[in-house]
Amino acid sequence: MEWKKMFHGGDYNPEQWLDRPDILEEDIVLMKKAHINCVTLGVFSWAMLEPEEGKYRLEWLENIIDRLYKEGICTILATPTGSMPHWMTYAYPEVMQVQKDGRRNLPGKRHNFCYTSAKMREMAKKIDGKLAEMSLRHPGVVLWHISNELGGNFSDGACHCEECQKAFRKWLKEKYGTLENLNKAWWTVFWSHVYTDWEQIHSPVPEGECLVHGLNLDWHRFVTHQMTEFLKWEIEAVREYSRLPVTTNFMYFFQPLDYYQVQKAVDVVSWDSYPFWHKEKDEVPVAVKAAAHHSMMRSMKKKPFLLMESTPSIVNWKIYNSLKRPGMHMLSSMQAVAHGSNTVQYFQWRKGRGAFEKFHGAVLDHRNGENTRTFQDVTEVGRRLERLEQQILNTCNKAEVAVIFDWENWWAVEDAAGPRLDMNYKKTFLKHYRAFWEMGIDADVLNMDYELDGYRVVVAPMNYLYKAGYAKKVKKYVENGGIYITTCWSGIVDENDLCFTGEHPLREVLGIRQEEIDAPGEEFRNSISFGGKTYTVGELCEVVHKESGQVLAVYEKEFYAGSPAVVKNEFGKGCAYYLAAEFGQEFYHDFYKECLGKAGIENPLKTELPYGVTVSERKGENSLIFLQNFNDKRIAVETQGIYEEADTGIRWEGKIEMEAFECKVLLKAGR
Ligand code: GLA
Ligand code: ZN
Repeated sequence: MEWKKMFHGGDYNPEQWLDRPDILEEDIVLMKKAHINCVTLGVFSWAMLEPEEGKYRLEWLENIIDRLYKEGICTILATPTGSMPHWMTYAYPEVMQVQKDGRRNLPGKRHNFCYTSAKMREMAKKIDGKLAEMSLRHPGVVLWHISNELGGNFSDGACHCEECQKAFRKWLKEKYGTLENLNKAWWTVFWSHVYTDWEQIHSPVPEGECLVHGLNLDWHRFVTHQMTEFLKWEIEAVREYSRLPVTTNFMYFFQPLDYYQVQKAVDVVSWDSYPFWHKEKDEVPVAVKAAAHHSMMRSMKKKPFLLMESTPSIVNWKIYNSLKRPGMHMLSSMQAVAHGSNTVQYFQWRKGRGAFEKFHGAVLDHRNGENTRTFQDVTEVGRRLERLEQQILNTCNKAEVAVIFDWENWWAVEDAAGPRLDMNYKKTFLKHYRAFWEMGIDADVLNMDYELDGYRVVVAPMNYLYKAGYAKKVKKYVENGGIYITTCWSGIVDENDLCFTGEHPLREVLGIRQEEIDAPGEEFRNSISFGGKTYTVGELCEVVHKESGQVLAVYEKEFYAGSPAVVKNEFGKGCAYYLAAEFGQEFYHDFYKECLGKAGIENPLKTELPYGVTVSERKGENSLIFLQNFNDKRIAVETQGIYEEADTGIRWEGKIEMEAFECKVLLKAGR
């Protein structure tokens, strides 16, 4: 996608106000005041676009697109499939998803269509085609937004209907060819669950087969595949007329869909970010999670992405919905930009009067027009993006570090029934990612499929499942000089979730042999000494034997006291570290500091950052350094350099003073 602007705006639902022309006029006046230049239209408008089957009413939408365009506001046009009109769900119940227990959903809510349903596809194609044809007449439309948050918030993301079962079997046939191959890959001799007919295969459900890990894993893959097919179907429907780029809005780390696969279908990645700010006094865990998400979205295509939704104030679906404290709206918006977003878009422009989201935050509330703190906050962001636009466009983060996060590993490791029932891959991943965030070192977040060349350091926490070819790639990477860090419970199974027999696939690279793994209770926690400090060890302790390399730390307690907990192994031109245990945050902080220090990798300010402060860099002809303070207090950052604020020209020599919840955008300055 070619970026001409930093987009600022968001979901706009004029269809809720078609009987109030005064409101629609006010919207335009206030959008301009708020420095909004882009809205998303049509996300849930199906019933207003096609009030009866085959009867289309697009004029209201066309008028609004044109009216906005005249005022310099462009449109991201959504296909309306995120929510289906009642006339359709009553006439064709087969478009509704079927739950795990076999019950078909009743009409209502959203994100609950069957992505296999031929009827659903037929209906989607018709309305999408109409919209695409219409879009040709309206230069205001700049991007397609396909459906909404595929997989949805109100289900497990999957449909278990008969059409889906058939499609699953077909997909399996294509994958395995014969039942013999499938039975082998799924290890079905266990408990005598050998399949003798393709028809016997059913999606995993709690009431039936759900303990064959190979089946579960393939089902996850199939759901991703099938949803992507639906997405592609809609993309083709609009492509029949329109050549505009397409996106679909992702959610958080949404377990049912492997976003690394889904993203291949779209031109540009976008996502909806709703961090739980002010959950606790310490904002760091929330900031880290948001940063990791943003980084993942950027890393998928290694290109700028769209922050498609965020709230200008609160959401209405958390256990408690705290108002953003002064500064936080700007900071969280700039955080997205810092990690590669070229937009700040909101859900929603104006609060509706009724139904589920009437109390969800919006730029405009029910009563106060422009006279609110939220409106001022939003306007400030709009102004700032305008000021920085030319400097930000054409820059992007270029990380020297990659942290692996892989959906297939996620599905497998948490399904595996061992060594703990509460295995939490995301939590482990975030601990590693956080260490880099704390140092202010940008990290890409990739799955196992990406090339590793070009990264100085690659980290693969809890990398239980090895995809075919992964070990070979890592070996070459380290041989050629890369630094590879991996942890306990890695290299255990292949892509079918079948345990490797014999040696670890990276045995010679890591220099260790795994023997057994302890998941000790609280009272049995171990410890290690590393760099003169003692660290408590967490919920997993692998007992490994060093075969080559250097032991950097050993367990201090239990029968495995003295056996290696941290091993470094030189291999080829590079080296590998093996962290045999699950540690607490402090260890990762200190370990990576030492490890990256030795490799000469520094943050762009070349300084140690105070707690709660991080920095991200968008590189380009003039690189921009985003210094972010997530503390609710002023703080000084010591540097050795001279920097200039890109939007105000203010210069800082040495010490940089940060306000509470502030983000500064800095350029390196000469004397
Ligand atoms: C999601 C949806 C929006 C809206 C917001 C509310 O991101 O895409 O339609 O419901 O949540 O936070
Ligand atoms: Zn279905």
